[in-house]
Amino acid sequence: MNLDFTFYNPTKIYFGKNALDNLPAELENYGKTVLLVYGKGSVKKLGLYDKVLEMLHQAGKTVVELSGIKSNPSYAQLQQGAKLVREHQVDLILAMGGGSVIDCSKGISVAAYCEGDPWQRYWVDFEEVDNPIVPVGSILTMAGTGSEMNGGSVITNDDAKLKNGRVFGPEVYPKFSILNPEYTYTVPKYQMVSGIFDTMSHLMEQYFSGEDDNTTDYLIEGILDSLIHSAREALKDSESYQARSNIMWCATLGLNTLTGLAKTQDWEVHMIEHQLGAYTDCAHGAGLAAVSVPYYRYIAPYGLDKFVRFAQKVWKVDTTGMSKEQAAMAGIDKLADFIRELGLPTTLRELGATEEMLPDIAGSTIPGGGYKSLQAQDILTILKQAY
Ligand code: NZQ
Ligand code: ZN
Repeated sequence: MNLDFTFYNPTKIYFGKNALDNLPAELENYGKTVLLVYGKGSVKKLGLYDKVLEMLHQAGKTVVELSGIKSNPSYAQLQQGAKLVREHQVDLILAMGGGSVIDCSKGISVAAYCEGDPWQRYWVDFEEVDNPIVPVGSILTMAGTGSEMNGGSVITNDDAKLKNGRVFGPEVYPKFSILNPEYTYTVPKYQMVSGIFDTMSHLMEQYFSGEDDNTTDYLIEGILDSLIHSAREALKDSESYQARSNIMWCATLGLNTLTGLAKTQDWEVHMIEHQLGAYTDCAHGAGLAAVSVPYYRYIAPYGLDKFVRFAQKVWKVDTTGMSKEQAAMAGIDKLADFIRELGLPTTLRELGATEEMLPDIAGSTIPGGGYKSLQAQDILTILKQAY
């Protein structure tokens, strides 16, 4: 492991069928006023909203609500939340939902007492947070992003047509996250597979960079193994606790910094998807699926050995008699097969993108990459291949 690192992740995880039982004790650590943040209603159908509200009332909390957080959460909703925090002097932000709700809650927590324009300072100029941060706790209802145990906050600014991701430090991570895999049984299949692919993409973004013999890469291969196996099980039986619990934990491990330690990383698939999302509002994991195969075919020649290892270790391809190029492509073909098996889109067209959008998406994507650093022209070529 050639790169030095510091590993510190302060989020406390409560995992399992009875994880919610830990909420009352956690609530004792915070003041009286709680901002309850959730999405468009799935938590009510799940019965979770009623249970949590009762726990909050029993703990003597004053509850302020911010509901209707949309997928790909908007900066306008974040500002609305920040205003509620100031008006009611909120002591804890309790996020109940998927990555969008948790990302928005972290955004609210840093924006509420920010002097100046939070969007410009934190999501464009990436300044350090120098104002009070309101603590966030989360109750996760859909697996995929890893937001429950990291500092990520991906926010869409509709006016600027930008979906910008910001990774804050440990002081912004959720203080605690409650993970009950049973909550994910009601996630629609399309969202379930989008989440699974999001996790897969996080692992690949961290894997496809660097050349040393690194323990982190072995860890990623192991998690991918479990994720692929459990995804197939969940497709057969959406209420398999074993499969859903594995998927949920793979998602958390996939982006809680553990699988990026001592590694350079790529993240260009995510950069492209974020702008694709800003233009089409597609589900994040679905956008990643449509971009990944053309992207990896484009960069594989620059990191051949790692792509051969991917074919052998992750997809168990017998590469005997193949050239390195053939072996690398065989692994990417397996990835394409898996995307089809999940039923995810393989073209940008299916996500509502138009040919006219492609130059704008390419031009507004932050350039970069792992084995090859891409410029706008490369990104446009990949987008055209994905179209
Ligand atoms: O709005 P509700 O009614 O809650 O419905 C949601 C939403 O429609 C639904 N859902 C969630 N749990 C459910 C459920 N439906 C039924 N039963 C349940 N138990 O699922 C839909 C999608 O939810 P959302 O939170 O948008 O999905 P996801 O968790 O994939 O989050 C996506 C957002 O996270 C960002 C993405 O860019 C996107 O904006 N990301 C955040 C990251 C981070 N913080 O580190 C990293 C990721 O790479 C990603 O960029
Ligand atoms: Zn992602």
